[in-house]
Amino acid sequence: MSEESAEPTVPNGLTLARDLEELTFSPGVGDALQAAPAPIGFVPTMGALHAGHAALIERAAEAMSRRKGGTVVVSIFVNPTQFGPGEDLDRYPRTLEADLRLCREAGADVVFAPSARTVYPDEHLHPGGIAASVRVGGPLTETLEGSHRPGHFDGVATVVLKLLNMVRPAVAFFGEKDWQQLAVVRTMANDLNLPYLIESVPTVRDADGLALSSRNRYLSPEQRAAAAELPAALFAARAAIAAGDAPAEVERALTDRLSAAGFAVDYAAVRCPTTLGPPPAKPPYTVRILVAAKLGGTRLIDNVAATRTA
Ligand code: PAF
Repeated sequence: MSEESAEPTVPNGLTLARDLEELTFSPGVGDALQAAPAPIGFVPTMGALHAGHAALIERAAEAMSRRKGGTVVVSIFVNPTQFGPGEDLDRYPRTLEADLRLCREAGADVVFAPSARTVYPDEHLHPGGIAASVRVGGPLTETLEGSHRPGHFDGVATVVLKLLNMVRPAVAFFGEKDWQQLAVVRTMANDLNLPYLIESVPTVRDADGLALSSRNRYLSPEQRAAAAELPAALFAARAAIAAGDAPAEVERALTDRLSAAGFAVDYAAVRCPTTLGPPPAKPPYTVRILVAAKLGGTRLIDNVAATRTA
């Protein structure tokens, strides 16, 4: 597991916590942990932060400013257990110093950037560093990302639960860009009665519609220009659903359009927004249209809501 080694410059007014003890005694966090629920707004991330993350942090800051003494904690941890073999764990961008600046500017009070050892401490006792894990089972994690990235959601659910239990926030904020991840986290929170509210924040897009993602920086300038076809195709699919086209037809048209534009499509699916199972048989309905497609070596995912009224 590669880690950024140089100690970064920490902007004034921001605390960088590197382990649980430092987190617990960070200004605002120690006292807040005594309260129930702790007035902490939490944004878990893997770093390489962009304006989409800033929107999450700003939303957390706004929510916390309504509570006296509210604190915003952002975690930055590239979680190895959610990457499959051959995925981009080693080259995942690590930009801690720039991330700290973005966190401060967006309104964070504390950044929790633990080492892999802090999160997965018992490597010598348990392969993977821990013996316990959490798994959201069933169709929700077997479909779409689940079928293309086996084990991915086990890694996500486990690290999210660990981070939630370490930070113990009143509210945790997740982006809608990872729609299936959001559904998995909500299911885990409901099924296990977790005492944390899960809030979602809409996807932030570039001017040409491309959803912001840490992985967009892998795209060459030509690929970046071509990537705009993905949101354009999604928006056209949304219009087709509204106009009354059948979900299966919309899926086919979306796949064809993206394939013709040079994408290798993993899936293009019209689904129930909560279960990610098939959409309702009859309108009116609101569905989620989800896409994963590769452009060269870069895998992009995106989704939009679509409504058919009659
Ligand atoms: O969405 C992400 O950045 C990650 O999957 C998360 C939620 C921080 C867990 O590692």
